[in-house]
Amino acid sequence: MKPVIFAFPAHAGLPQSIVARVGGTAGTLFLHRFPDGESYVRLDTPVEGREAVFVCSLDNPDAKLLQLLFAAAAAKDLGATRVGIVVPYLAYMRQDVRFKPGEAITSVSVGKLVSGVADWLVTVDPHLHRHATLDAVYSIPSTVVPAAPAISAWIAASVARPLLVGPDGESAQWVARVAAAANAPWIVLDKSRHGDRDVEVSAPQVDRYRDRTPVLVDDIVSTAHTMIAAVGRLREAGLAAPICIGVHALFAANAYDELKAAGAARIVTCNTVPHASNGIDVNAAVAEAVAGMIRA
Ligand code: R5P
Repeated sequence: MKPVIFAFPAHAGLPQSIVARVGGTAGTLFLHRFPDGESYVRLDTPVEGREAVFVCSLDNPDAKLLQLLFAAAAAKDLGATRVGIVVPYLAYMRQDVRFKPGEAITSVSVGKLVSGVADWLVTVDPHLHRHATLDAVYSIPSTVVPAAPAISAWIAASVARPLLVGPDGESAQWVARVAAAANAPWIVLDKSRHGDRDVEVSAPQVDRYRDRTPVLVDDIVSTAHTMIAAVGRLREAGLAAPICIGVHALFAANAYDELKAAGAARIVTCNTVPHASNGIDVNAAVAEAVAGMIRA
């Protein structure tokens, strides 16, 4: 039997792409938050004997994660043959080590919770830094969809003489892939973070790229202070106003407006988290990955 695809709110586009690709049915999911803050979750489409797939990006994760876990557990309980989770943005991956004594390593905790209710996972560019792969934290099979091909294609079509810039060493993995496909040079800056909104970057020897358009690429834009510091440093070095590309558009509080005000020439993100800046479509690649996980 074909799968049932359930979409959490605000996911216009992706569930339809998945249904179109795998030929399943769009399910109806009813979610309610009681006045005391508890969640009510109901699957209004039968799942018995079928594979159930839940599409839920985990921006604002503390509000969404429990509902996702409840929905997945309910599907199992109601007789779904398998349960798949499609999380275009996978939260909590940055806390991948105990930086200070006593800290919770939340990437591992979330990995255990999700692996306890689901049979497989599809996501886009999770923040893999000190965890080498998702298998280090998720005990279920997973597919990671890289955003680099779609970002490279966008740059090739939209930017003349780009210089790809990663704001920190961690971004080298994305920037190198994007630059190779866009056939452009790339550099990474040095970043020091002293607090949530206190970020410094240094940009040694970038003045030789003054004839190029800098394109900053990072996986997550949260407070945007990483991007803001990088924009400032590149402008100080005499480069043109940078284009800022983020994979996951978290934009906490007024981060988007602050980044615009800091001098970004343009801000473009992938559609893993719904946001006005979404301009790079990764839905087809995600749907393809889902097709590879489903057992018809
Ligand atoms: C860091 O490890 C990530 O790759 C991003 O650079 C970071 O999450 C961006 O955060 P913010 O926008 O708050 O500076």
